[in-house]
Amino acid sequence: MKILITAGPTRERIDPVRYISNYSSGKMGYALAEAAVRNGHKVTIVSGPVSIPPPKSVKTVNVESAADMACEVRRLAKSADLIIMAAAVADYTPAKFAKDKIKKKNPTLSVKLKKTEDILAGLGKTKKKGQVLVGFAAETSNLLKNAKSKLEKKNLDWIVANEVGKNDRGFSSDNNAATLISRDGKKIVIPLQSKKSLAEKILKIISKTGFPAC
Ligand code: PMT
Repeated sequence: MKILITAGPTRERIDPVRYISNYSSGKMGYALAEAAVRNGHKVTIVSGPVSIPPPKSVKTVNVESAADMACEVRRLAKSADLIIMAAAVADYTPAKFAKDKIKKKNPTLSVKLKKTEDILAGLGKTKKKGQVLVGFAAETSNLLKNAKSKLEKKNLDWIVANEVGKNDRGFSSDNNAATLISRDGKKIVIPLQSKKSLAEKILKIISKTGFPAC
């Protein structure tokens, strides 16, 4: 199987020295890539800026912003059998990039933001027959309700719902817990464990029920 995985944060530039980003470390996406390679798949990662080394035997495409990630994912998605979007893509980016460093003049400063492209929703619209599309939902409340709504809106086959905003899981932690929800209403709860073992389980579940016949 050809598997495309996104990982890490994006950086949205405000001026030459500042950006907006988030706490994603890339660990979840990279663990999925390692698990996929161990299971004999051909894997490409599109990764935002992270400080962990890329997994062995994986083609890694490095990107910075949500717009860069959108271009690379769109290009690589055409030949992928399975796409897993574990990256924490910015929902908003500065409406204007300031060419010069913004000076410290006033007591407050507003930066106008505009929506980024929703990469996963775009993939949901152009999904090829047999292609399996998996998203993540990072939530601080109403985990399952919000995740289900993303699954439906983005036309996904699976969504991996995970809680964020806690120290022992989610962003940056070595551990995570998740509930997988499928398009046809299956719900599989995977308790807190290392991201490496969670990744193995996610892949096993998806490949059991989600891969196209070949
Ligand atoms: O990297 P780690 O430190 O290991 O942390 C892992 C993680 C918490 C980042 C990961 O498990 C996770 O939840 N990733 C998804 C984060 C996220 O952006 O969730 P969301 O609920 O905001 O987005 C829903 C889905 O849409 C995600 O698959 C996301 O990749 C995708 N998306 C979001 C915005 C956007 N503009 N384009 C997208 O494709």
